Amino acid sequence: MELPRTVPELPAAHGFRLRRWSWDDTELLREAATDPYIPLTTTVPSPCTPAAAAAYLQRQWRRTEIGTGYPFVIVDPAGRAVGDVGLWVGEVPLRGWATVGYWVAPTARRRGAATAALGAVTAWALGELALPGIELYVEPGNTGSIRTAERAAYRCTGLRPAHQVVDGRPRDMWRYVRTQQQ
Ligand SMILES: CC(C)(COP(=O)(O)OP(=O)(O)OC[C@H]1O[C@@H](n2cnc3c(N)ncnc32)[C@H](O)[C@@H]1OP(=O)(O)O)[C@@H](O)C(=O)NCCC(=O)NCCS
Repeated sequence: MELPRTVPELPAAHGFRLRRWSWDDTELLREAATDPYIPLTTTVPSPCTPAAAAAYLQRQWRRTEIGTGYPFVIVDPAGRAVGDVGLWVGEVPLRGWATVGYWVAPTARRRGAATAALGAVTAWALGELALPGIELYVEPGNTGSIRTAERAAYRCTGLRPAHQVVDGRPRDMWRYVRTQQQ
């Protein structure tokens, strides 16, 4: 199947929804940039200058235009932009599988945003896009992310030694997967 070159609007559980990034989301980006971990594992700029924020937004839109991914803003039931979930499909032509990543602004955590967002993007990828599987990688100490993956029915397949460089050091990561068969 030819993958779409636009980011759809997706409903998520408990009144959350997903949509594409817009110029109005720089406040969310500024908050994310103050988190100690998000800028280390994403391309969220820190410090988040107006120019860096604009470049970030343009990078997100470009990813979908060139077919490498779908970056979604997570919107809470009150209409506030609270986080990001990204489905990365650059390797789909080679191996079929996508990867997923997510973050939530520090002031919006522990309210189910990540779980709802991961559930919605996973259902879309396995359902509408008909991808055979999705993987995600989590550092062993990241309890919130591990719980999020488990809540969205991802299954741990083992530890990947030195899987990703974070803050200049290769880190072991748990690999979690969801597949069509699960
Ligand atoms: C990990 C993260 C995305 C969780 O977002 P969130 O919206 O707070 O998550 P949810 O509210 O959906 O919670 C999901 C589960 O994790 C638990 N949880 C969340 N944060 C937690 C924490 N700091 N410690 C322990 N458990 C935590 C919740 O209680 C919930 O479990 P439960 O349903 O069994 O109660 C958020 O903390 C974050 O953005 N962290 C920094 C970036 C990051 O680590 N991204 C993931 C990289 S793999």
